[in-house]
Amino acid sequence: MTNNESSNLPSLACVVLAAGQGTRMRSDLPKVLHPVANLPMIKHVINACEALAPQNIIVVVAPHMPAVEKAVAPHKCVVQSKALGTGDAVKAAKDELKNFKGDVIVLFGDAPLVTATALHNMQVKRQQTNAAIVVAGFTPADAGPYGRLIVDAKGNLAGIIEVAEATAEQRALKLCNGGVMLFAADKLMPLLDQLKDNNSKKEFYLTDCIALAQKSGDTCTVAEMLADEVLGINTRVELAEAEKLMQQRLRRTAMLNGATFTDPDTVFLSADTKIGRDVTIGPNVFIGPGVEIADKVDIRAFCHLEQVRVEQGAIIGPFARLRPGSIVGAEAHIGNFVEIKNAEIGKGAKVNHMSYIGDAFVGTRANIGAGTITCNYDGYRKSHTHIGADTFIGSNSSLVAPVKIGDGAYVGAGSVITMEVPANTLAVARGRQANIEDWARRFRDEQAKDKK
Ligand code: UD1
Ligand code: MG
Repeated sequence: MTNNESSNLPSLACVVLAAGQGTRMRSDLPKVLHPVANLPMIKHVINACEALAPQNIIVVVAPHMPAVEKAVAPHKCVVQSKALGTGDAVKAAKDELKNFKGDVIVLFGDAPLVTATALHNMQVKRQQTNAAIVVAGFTPADAGPYGRLIVDAKGNLAGIIEVAEATAEQRALKLCNGGVMLFAADKLMPLLDQLKDNNSKKEFYLTDCIALAQKSGDTCTVAEMLADEVLGINTRVELAEAEKLMQQRLRRTAMLNGATFTDPDTVFLSADTKIGRDVTIGPNVFIGPGVEIADKVDIRAFCHLEQVRVEQGAIIGPFARLRPGSIVGAEAHIGNFVEIKNAEIGKGAKVNHMSYIGDAFVGTRANIGAGTITCNYDGYRKSHTHIGADTFIGSNSSLVAPVKIGDGAYVGAGSVITMEVPANTLAVARGRQANIEDWARRFRDEQAKDKK
């Protein structure tokens, strides 16, 4: 993305409206905090704004929305004391914009699919046309509730008519207001001051600014956006639609950056997922927040990853769970039904079958046998297990933390290790085997006698 300095666009301020009640979500959580791709939806809007390096991002909230204020920090929140409409909401940012010169973009906190490119294009459009206002227009499949754009013979935008006020003829118009509007800063406040609430909703419509600008001899214009970019969320049904679109977008970006997805539709990514080149992701993989996957990693089917870094060339899964605080080293193998939590797995180490490695360090090239468990919790506190480089932990061993296995040590299969194992030592901690010769034959003979 070219930022404003390099492209000589005017400086930018963004006003994000988030004071609506969002009652149709039927939720205790403010609407704009519902996550899309594991990120509160308003943060997607803010990320798109941030990509344009604006001078200012101001979020308009309703009274008592501390969680929203916290989520958008360090950006400033201003309070709209009563939800009197989108025009009134922008007025709440008046003081913050007092000395600002340049472009002001107004956008909605509940429309998370807006892209930095689309916003950038609006700025370019205003620069090219010198319009006082640029409106994001789009052509939805069903124009339903959207404000209709009235374009005059010269191709300028003459007005926006809200659906509640529209005549049947106006309702038939296909081009709609996507909700994002860009204003020349010096025009914005005088227009807002002229807004009236003499409409069916008794609201101050931001969209009435178009007709008012026309009246004072300014031109307005439309920058077209895709329907997918302006989708607003009112219900959890729309939230699911936005999630789907965002997932498609994230996967597409990952694929264009050099990752292979065997069955893309079944993979879930997070907004902050980082995926390198020549990574392969199999079917049914869930990637939660905070995941970084380096080049040439192979994530096989049915894995679940969260807050973990996977280094170059590692193989994960199938059916592995990597939990927060973990690092899987280069070329390491984490196999089926293995859970890793808050653990560092060294370069080339192998934990291939049915193990739990938690609060642990596993050295380079260590081989952790099937069914190894780090017993990290005693009901009160978590303790650490250190497994040195080049160690070999026999299958079905329990390592009772805190405990240390020195470099190059061996642990016999089925051991319960409670004491330090020094480097290059073999530790066997299990009952000794006793063989009772001929026992089985005698046992069978006795059973047979009893039956007669
Ligand atoms: C608005 C537009 C409409 C456009 C549609 C696109 C107006 C008058 N209408 O209609 O032309 O087609 O969006 O989705 O602008 N908000 C506040 N304070 C308020 C009212 C709203 O902060 O007093 C915020 C809401 O939280 C929301 C956004 O503004 O994020 C839009 O409000 P909403 O009531 O959904 O507007 P629409 O009727 O959908
Ligand atoms: Mg709406």
